[in-house]
Amino acid sequence: MRRLVIAVTGTPGTGKSVFARALAKRLGVPLVDLNALIAEKKIYKLDSERTKIADLSEMRREFVRAIKDTESVVVEGLLAYLLPKKLLTHVVVLRTEPKILKRRLRARKFSEAKTRENVEAEALDIILWEVVDVHGTSNVYEINTTRLKPDDAVERFLDAVAGKISLKPGGISWLEEYLKLVRKSF
Ligand SMILES: Nc1ncnc2c1ncn2[C@@H]1O[C@H](COP(=O)(O)OP(=O)(O)O)[C@@H](O)[C@H]1O
Ligand SMILES: [Mg+2]
Repeated sequence: MRRLVIAVTGTPGTGKSVFARALAKRLGVPLVDLNALIAEKKIYKLDSERTKIADLSEMRREFVRAIKDTESVVVEGLLAYLLPKKLLTHVVVLRTEPKILKRRLRARKFSEAKTRENVEAEALDIILWEVVDVHGTSNVYEINTTRLKPDDAVERFLDAVAGKISLKPGGISWLEEYLKLVRKSF
């Protein structure tokens, strides 16, 4: 089998951590938690809101070092798509309906402002757009996790890799539903 380096990204709350854990387990390969790596290696600065801003070149270097002796690997984190392009064989972008995402972020005690910022970013396809800007569409897989159990999302991804179904980016639009959500709060 060729070496797989599968990056899992998406707006916070879309299910990266649970999906990546399930995928790594299914494939029997290690999982790298990019946020944990950034924290552990202290390769970040804190902005005025005390949000960690990672040093991207250090992040790339530490990741390369971390997987030096491993075969295939799953790596999860919002910034995973910014890892060295030549290493990544697949980029998975997880998506969640804004209304459900809002609920998940509130449950995680995100502030009102952070919740809104992330729900808006999801509604406007911001992460997907950035991923496609960097990688194009051929190795990018877009998965709606709103009504899928993590294990089922993993099976869909593997079906797409096997060419049985298509998860090509661009198949999801939240705008209509999002506008309803926004109108309701006026
Ligand atoms: N496929 C899913 N179906 C239902 N709930 C999910 C799903 N994936 C994740 N969740 C829930 O959503 C929340 C955020 O998931 P998490 O994996 O921590 O997201 P992320 O790592 O992208 O921030 C958690 O409470 C998790 O249990
Ligand atoms: Mg996570």
